[in-house]
Amino acid sequence: MDCRSDEELYQLVQESKVHTIEGKVADYIPALAKADLSSLSVAMAFPDGSCYSAGDIETKSTLQSISKVIALALALLDNGEEYVFQRVGMEPTGDPFNSIIKLETIAPHKPLNPMINAGAIAVSSMIKGDGIEERLGRLIQLTELIIGEEGVGYNEEVAQSELETADLNRSMAYYLKQHSIIEEDVETVIELYTKQCAIELNCTGLAKVGLLLAMDGKHPATGEMILPPRVASICKTFMVTCGMYNASGEFAIRVGVPAKSGVSGGIMASVPQRCGIGIFGPALDDRGNSVAGWDLMEKMSKKYDLSMF
Ligand code: DON
Repeated sequence: MDCRSDEELYQLVQESKVHTIEGKVADYIPALAKADLSSLSVAMAFPDGSCYSAGDIETKSTLQSISKVIALALALLDNGEEYVFQRVGMEPTGDPFNSIIKLETIAPHKPLNPMINAGAIAVSSMIKGDGIEERLGRLIQLTELIIGEEGVGYNEEVAQSELETADLNRSMAYYLKQHSIIEEDVETVIELYTKQCAIELNCTGLAKVGLLLAMDGKHPATGEMILPPRVASICKTFMVTCGMYNASGEFAIRVGVPAKSGVSGGIMASVPQRCGIGIFGPALDDRGNSVAGWDLMEKMSKKYDLSMF
């Protein structure tokens, strides 16, 4: 899919770019702190194969929490809905993505949803395969099928950097293990989860993931069902209710489309039956969402009447 640069999108990006100075890079993962704070780019992918873009859409960034959507899809394919939702809930938390507090205060002690770190760690532990590399490989393969391209990989430097600073995630994994939500070694699931977060795509790749979900799991070019519609529907629903963390309600009001953010500054959005959107803008607001990316989504939603509500 060739992505053509688009003048209208370029104008919107220029307007939103001024907001990058309001944000900060995620420096709790040291390797992410190297990102260019002032950058912002976007791609929109449509079912007819057309794609429009603005900014540097070729540079790859790590998915971080956006990977949680693809991991959830694979865990659902591997285990079925019943198994997954016995171990992870369906409710938004209103807390930051790395908060541990509700794990203890709710009963049973299962993570409230698969988009917070605790829930995503539980989901990663459900990905089947023999060893970390095979399980990660299956996730990468699914990503390649979704975007219809080979050559997806993960950034070892970012993964290593996060592994060295992931003690909060480790503590959640220990908690989950104590309560039999996960069974495997904490270090194994943390390594898998961290490498999964370091899978890299460019903006076009993100837009294509959004597009496949928008098309209910059907590949727009080949007509092949990559994901069952039910799985795509579950993913999109979590994107609406929990995809932008404790800003998901506000995002639903202001933008009105299923979307998932990550601390690398990515936003992957899915406009049902219409298009997929991929954005990278590493300057983050205090809730971990791309500050200029959010503004750009608001502008695009108004201009192209994207809200589904
Ligand atoms: O576990 C972490 O902290 C990161 N690998 C992913 C967090 C993330 O992207 C949250 N996003 N807003």
